Amino acid sequence: MSKYKIAILAGDGIGPEITEEAIKVLKVIEQRNNLELELMHTPFGASAYFSHGHPYPDESKAVCDQADAILKGPIGLSHEASKEIPIDLQPERGALLPMRARYNTYANIRPVSLPKGLAHFSPLKPEVIGEGIDMIMIRELVGGLYFGSKETGVNDEGLRYVKEALEYDENQIAQILHEGFKIAMRRKKVLHNIHKSNVLKSSVLWNEIMDEVKQEYPEVEVIHMLVDAAATHLCLNPTQFDVMVMENMFGDILSDQGGGILGSLGLMPSACLGPEKAYYEPSHGSAPDIAGKGIANPYSMIGSVAMMLEYSFDMFQEAENVWAAMQGVFNDGYSTADLSKPGAGVNMISTVEFGDKVVEKLSAMPTI
Ligand code: IPM
Ligand code: MG
Repeated sequence: MSKYKIAILAGDGIGPEITEEAIKVLKVIEQRNNLELELMHTPFGASAYFSHGHPYPDESKAVCDQADAILKGPIGLSHEASKEIPIDLQPERGALLPMRARYNTYANIRPVSLPKGLAHFSPLKPEVIGEGIDMIMIRELVGGLYFGSKETGVNDEGLRYVKEALEYDENQIAQILHEGFKIAMRRKKVLHNIHKSNVLKSSVLWNEIMDEVKQEYPEVEVIHMLVDAAATHLCLNPTQFDVMVMENMFGDILSDQGGGILGSLGLMPSACLGPEKAYYEPSHGSAPDIAGKGIANPYSMIGSVAMMLEYSFDMFQEAENVWAAMQGVFNDGYSTADLSKPGAGVNMISTVEFGDKVVEKLSAMPTI
């Protein structure tokens, strides 16, 4: 019997309620697959700041250090509420970025996927969606502007200024590009390289390394695209993309656009992979405006569980089953209020009911 320890960081806003549903799914997976999962709950985010004085307390670091994988809910407060927390202890700067750095989770894998049958969620026309959207955005997660040197002050003319550097070394670039190629090799062998080399020196180096790394993957076709053009192409013709690779900030922005073309960031799970540790999280924020109402769809959180099965535990078929179970619930005509408007012809169910239905579907599927 395989045993895994999973750290559970429920986070803020809708985090706890969608995490509950992901846990239900993990419990079913445990039973069905003869696994032993030790779920270790630990504080993280703004809630941890208020209860423990720090958004990523030492005890949570210790729990995450021991874990085989980490499941993390969304974090953060509304713009106004954030002001109650000193700027460096706000959960994004005080918890999330430090966790990414601690485990060097340089590869952020963000599937942007909408089967044809769910095209009604998307703001795009059915003819644009065609047979469905199915791409993976790969975002470098521990370099670039997010982690570069930062300086603020008052300049010689008495003006307040800021300097924030987009920094990468060749190894950091090569390692994320390898990730892009490996995933492209498992799929259609087409890799979109997203850059801004007409302006940024960082992209010039990025592309130089791209040319070198490409030699190791002769079967993969590389398509270069400027990041601004990619934003347009994502709206006009999203089905041309299969695997996209890009630096941190580009990936932050384009992956949210990915959520936009699907119809909701609520449909965006993700995996953050480092050399020794991985954590899994929805790509979206904590949606404080709908927290506690039971209307948030747990798809991104349960999808993050599916990604954990795939990337941390090599349970490929069970990961597929989890995706299929969720699609199945949508295909049966159910949705939650965050994804669908009343009158959209769907049966509106709550966060908990969605989780229950996923569990029901998954339980009915054969195991290997
Ligand atoms: C994401 C989020 C984070 C980021 C925030 C919460 C710091 O937007 O994972 O995309 O900017 O990386
Ligand atoms: Mg983001």
